[in-house]
Amino acid sequence: MVSPLPEPWRHHTIRHPGPDDHLPVLAVLDRWWGGLGGEAGSRQRALLLPKLMFQHFTASSFLVTADGRIVAFLIGFLSPSRPAESYIHFVGVEPAERGRGLGAALYERFFAYSAAHGRSVVRAITSPENKGSHAFHTRMGFVTEPGPKEFEGVPVQPDYDGPGLDRLSFRKDLG
Ligand SMILES: CC(C)(COP(=O)(O)OP(=O)(O)OC[C@H]1O[C@@H](n2cnc3c(N)ncnc32)[C@H](O)[C@@H]1OP(=O)(O)O)[C@@H](O)C(=O)NCCC(=O)NCCS
Repeated sequence: MVSPLPEPWRHHTIRHPGPDDHLPVLAVLDRWWGGLGGEAGSRQRALLLPKLMFQHFTASSFLVTADGRIVAFLIGFLSPSRPAESYIHFVGVEPAERGRGLGAALYERFFAYSAAHGRSVVRAITSPENKGSHAFHTRMGFVTEPGPKEFEGVPVQPDYDGPGLDRLSFRKDLG
């Protein structure tokens, strides 16, 4: 049971996702990410959300719907290998619903879930080109970890996810 969202989302439904949400979530990615990275970006995003995320990571993930439409999602998990850490793998908010605190509300849910399970550090990554994601994570209290490379003044982890797949690495210490 997931407790309802506060105003102004009283009429939205928040729940844990399940396998039936996999294809509907994939279907919104290109529009929600604005085609970032072209065809390669599109392929990478779809591959980051295989069905297993909707089978085995559901208790720590959240999905928001309104009138049956997907409005936002957060896929995250408690690290099985690092007992003090949790990880936000993917987050998205419907473009028309952005800028009103919904992304922050999902993050706060995940922070509370992580703390309740004894986690004190939350990690996430994003691509260097995703300026909005960097701004959002900074606003949510994440620091961008130092790296040997920079992209437009921001430290980058080169080849983090494979050759040519640079990433920003975010860390937040839960107070
Ligand atoms: C990133 C994203 C999830 C933010 O969701 P949102 O609901 O618009 O975020 P919120 O309204 O809760 O914003 C929380 C804070 O972050 C800031 N913020 C959010 N997006 C921002 C952006 N693009 N640029 C600058 N600041 C931003 C907000 O101004 C707000 O700060 P405030 O409290 O000082 O007003 C959403 O823009 C999105 O889905 N983007 C596309 C997908 C993506 O890039 N996901 C992240 C990488 S996996």
